Amino acid sequence: MYPRVTIDVKKYEENVRYMQGLCRDNGLTMMAVTKVFCAAQPLVDVLNELNVDFIADSRIENLEAMKTDQKKVLLRLPSIHEAERVIQHTDLSLNSEIKTVEALNEAAGRLGRCHGVILMIDIGDLREGVFYKENVLNTIREIKALKHIDLTGIGTNLTCFGGIVPTADTLKKLIDVIDMAKRMLKTEFEIVSGGNSSHIHLLLKGKEIPEVNNLRLGESLILGRETAYGKTIDNMHQDVITLEADLIEIKHKPSFPEGEIGMNAFGQVPKFDDYGLMKRGILAIGKQDVDYHEIIPYDTRIRLVGSSSDHIIVDLTNTENDYQVGDVLKFKLSYGSLLSVMTSKYVGKRYV
Ligand SMILES: Cc1ncc(COP(=O)(O)O)c(C=O)c1O
Repeated sequence: MYPRVTIDVKKYEENVRYMQGLCRDNGLTMMAVTKVFCAAQPLVDVLNELNVDFIADSRIENLEAMKTDQKKVLLRLPSIHEAERVIQHTDLSLNSEIKTVEALNEAAGRLGRCHGVILMIDIGDLREGVFYKENVLNTIREIKALKHIDLTGIGTNLTCFGGIVPTADTLKKLIDVIDMAKRMLKTEFEIVSGGNSSHIHLLLKGKEIPEVNNLRLGESLILGRETAYGKTIDNMHQDVITLEADLIEIKHKPSFPEGEIGMNAFGQVPKFDDYGLMKRGILAIGKQDVDYHEIIPYDTRIRLVGSSSDHIIVDLTNTENDYQVGDVLKFKLSYGSLLSVMTSKYVGKRYV
């Protein structure tokens, strides 16, 4: 059945093993992030077998559903409304709002548990975290006063919203906060979570940040690349997951629509270039499953023309292959397309 993704479990295992080694050699623990593949159990099983330090996901539903004995971490700041679920199904969560941590404290008290919190500091990427220039010490003091919360760590996230690259200078802002907490509040952090796959370029260049002792890694494990500059990592696989979709129509048609151009199915007025007559194919996969800009054909002579909800239109004019209806085209995936195809229930999942 098509469309489908093929997920190479062995390649994922080799990637995780490699990164686990790199982290270990640099004195880092690793949180393996599962959200990009919706915490699919066959890949979670790999993490179980390799005994990763932590499994992390941004969705509480994924953390609830996965079968694991590894420590579980909620990556997205908890919603205050899901405090009880967070306590029940995770060991640690990343936090920046005292009101939410208080709700977690109450829920933990009710359930007779103690919950670990990693306080997120925003050092310039401008997504989550207490801004480093604000009174972070107050927040630390307030969290430490809570009976059922353990302030296990401090962390930061970069290259997610603002595209800020982790450098020694940028990370110094986090380290200054840590030093201040040590000096003023005698607070030590068991975990200093320095970032995500964008941090790896520092490891590869041998630029160790000694204060950082943990990374949260998703994309690098599945796409075999660091995310500060998008460079592939030697010894890692870039093709753990590939997409296949089948051709349901192949016709020679003009490349420029005929008639008055109004709105397309998405309320936009489309623009076209006229390439003359074209051999056009239609794939049985569409916007509902994936953004066509984010898939890369293995046959590099195929051009992606556009898509509607259920169709992607391809230009087959220049390919050397004589594709027929029913033939299957294979695609490499970006992080964005991986997220959406793994989430789409219309895309089959095949493990090899
Ligand atoms: C807070 C946080 N940390 C780490 C990650 C993992 O990032 P990456 O996939 O770039 O390694 C994410 C995203 O999934 C995240 O939201």
